Amino acid sequence: MAQIKNIGLFTSGGDSPGMNAAIRAVVRTAIYYNIEVTGIRRGYEGMIKGDMFPMDRKSVSNIIQRGGTILKTARSEQFKTPEGRKLAYEQLKKNNVDALVAIGGDGTFTGAKIFGHEYDIPVVGLPGTIDNDLCGTDFTIGYDTAINTVIDAVDKIRDTAESHDRLFIVEVMGRDCGLIALRTGIAAGAEAILIPESKTGLQAVFERLESGRKDKSSKIIMLAESGEAGDAFEIGRQIKERFPNYDTRISVLGHIQRGGRPSCMDRVLACRVGVAAVEALRNGHHNEMIGLIHNEIAYTPFEHATKHNTDINPNFLKIVEILSI
Ligand code: F6P
Repeated sequence: MAQIKNIGLFTSGGDSPGMNAAIRAVVRTAIYYNIEVTGIRRGYEGMIKGDMFPMDRKSVSNIIQRGGTILKTARSEQFKTPEGRKLAYEQLKKNNVDALVAIGGDGTFTGAKIFGHEYDIPVVGLPGTIDNDLCGTDFTIGYDTAINTVIDAVDKIRDTAESHDRLFIVEVMGRDCGLIALRTGIAAGAEAILIPESKTGLQAVFERLESGRKDKSSKIIMLAESGEAGDAFEIGRQIKERFPNYDTRISVLGHIQRGGRPSCMDRVLACRVGVAAVEALRNGHHNEMIGLIHNEIAYTPFEHATKHNTDINPNFLKIVEILSI
């Protein structure tokens, strides 16, 4: 096993709060073990273009509390092609990078998996996405902050919903995963939750509205984006048609969910997996995501991490049903 001398570090895909804390952890741990770090800007895009620079202890000062990513991020189409990956490899060689730490989500690890098999360069990944849609970690970096941002917003929406006796459909992010909607729906006291993983769909929401107390002054329906039933505007239209007496409004929370100072949970998670990533590379790990399962560091091959089968706890939906009476 060749000794690692220079780690290339990048963030890729949608940014998430806590990525900076992870960057800091990787850089400082590498320095601790006498390994150099090369920062790569804008993920795979920057790798292809050779947009790289040496990082030191000071380049990650005063970033642990900042949202976004100081390394910038992008979604690269070129890296999906063999030609793009060849260019990326050549640039890494030119900059003497002999290992990689990728911080990102599903798309990032799909790219890393292919690259790690094609080229002789060890790659490990840190789960950085608000969606919490990766297998091999209980939580992803950014999820905790995002769900706290969501409940903060929904609490405010509740104030106006209550004042006007309104029903609000609140649409949250998550790509094709309903975990943001599910957890925040419980925490915000939603009447119903509509997520791609639930088989009952919009019909269950209608039933819930029909059977629920009619004297409730405000109602919140938490909707995950990209569900089969349609977006918040389509669902709002259908609810208006079926329940014309409800004064219905839509609120799409959007990218506010990706910003802001990372929570304590996200910072600690980022620090733990950041340290573990460098140690994993030193110990010969390759093509794995470093996560936390039951509060212990866990190593999951990229192909399993991106399997899209994060389970939804059915009890969570039952909890909403019971508590929203
Ligand atoms: O993966 C993070 C995420 O915020 C998803 O929840 C969302 O579907 C997507 O990224 C939005 O991507 P973009 O910022 O490129 O529109």
